[in-house]
Amino acid sequence: MNYPNLKKGHSRIYRLIEQELKRQKRVINLVPSENFVSQAVLEALATPFTNKYAEGYPHRRYYHGNEVSDKLEDYTKGLALKIFKLSPEKWSVNVQPYSGSPANIAVYTALVGRGEKILSMNLEHGGHLTHGHKVSVTGQTWNFAHYGVGKDGFIDYAEVETIAQKEKPKLIICGATAYSRQIDFAKFGKIAKKINALLLADISHVAGLVVGGAHPSPFSHADVVTSTTHKTLRGPRGAFIVSRAELSDKIDKAVFPGLQGGPHLNNIAAMAVAFEEALKPNFKKYARQIIKNTQALAAELKKYGFKVISGGTDNHLLLVDVTPLGLPGKEAGELLEKAGIIVNKNMIPYDTRKPWDPSGIRLGTPAVTTRGMKEKEMRQIAECIRMILIDRLNPLKIRKEVERLTHRFKIPLTPND
Ligand SMILES: Cc1ncc(COP(=O)(O)O)c(C=O)c1O
Repeated sequence: MNYPNLKKGHSRIYRLIEQELKRQKRVINLVPSENFVSQAVLEALATPFTNKYAEGYPHRRYYHGNEVSDKLEDYTKGLALKIFKLSPEKWSVNVQPYSGSPANIAVYTALVGRGEKILSMNLEHGGHLTHGHKVSVTGQTWNFAHYGVGKDGFIDYAEVETIAQKEKPKLIICGATAYSRQIDFAKFGKIAKKINALLLADISHVAGLVVGGAHPSPFSHADVVTSTTHKTLRGPRGAFIVSRAELSDKIDKAVFPGLQGGPHLNNIAAMAVAFEEALKPNFKKYARQIIKNTQALAAELKKYGFKVISGGTDNHLLLVDVTPLGLPGKEAGELLEKAGIIVNKNMIPYDTRKPWDPSGIRLGTPAVTTRGMKEKEMRQIAECIRMILIDRLNPLKIRKEVERLTHRFKIPLTPND
């Protein structure tokens, strides 16, 4: 690692960065919402765009000196439409949200009056906190109704329709944080039309799969689409909102000045880099490999007797109920971490335990796929998980196997590395 100025003048921070880089290199990261950005994305984050204020939108700024920022934001917006093959006549995009949560809040602020009804997926069944959980400002500001999954772990679209007919929400949200099956955007679109509601697809998790052609696209069915840029899309931390053109004025006003101040231009530059990378043919291969890897991991875990929610996966993640092994999710996650396998503990549908120590763990393959791992390595990882959680071998003994894998599959280099 070579950051000479940090090393010379900020040694404590330098050492922390060094430690974190070492950690990332040495563990198998199965957190489905994380990834490794390219060196070009990291370089864009560390550019002088971080110095500039650009409150407002291109060609309508509150600060002077924004001729270059305007070009950057216009270019990034163009790329955001291009990765989804959208026409600028029909669709508008806002690339300023600082992250996925403010992007969702901006959409509700723009389109739904306070106290009015929104229908979304229950957090316990896979929805996100900003889909109206009571601990989130979203659940305290808008009146949320929820749908979930059936006992089989799949969304029951007939039930979604029944709830929608009864609740008559202004907005329906589809898209999830912990759902391993394809989302049928067409079915959600039909339900929303029937009750005259708007449809928001939050594709934060699957955006990279959509761009890579490995998951259906929501754009023929949704009025608005939000997404983070740092998960399967493999960009910097950030988010964007794509909306039908006639909704864009309200959405832009909700982002700025409604919720945010100046955009983080360095992040926007890095987003543009990630979008350019996603346009390259090998991104399609990457997206397909993510799914092949998750399916291989799920199949192997099932072979060992693990209880995979819904019986498998169509996307980048899977959920495992670990309670039949006599383990709660927290302990399972901790045992795996000792061996250098990083997952996150997660609620499973109909969980009787609490979020801090739920019944499940959530595993995903975007990061290990970026490292170049394929089905063969997924089988090795599943075997390590079995040895820790079923055979109850000492996790420190498995660590050697993990290190052999991480040594062979490097993470993308850091600038100056
Ligand atoms: C579906 C979904 N929406 C929104 C978000 C929020 O994104 P952020 O953590 O960037 O605020 C997440 C993050 O996990 C998510 O999974």
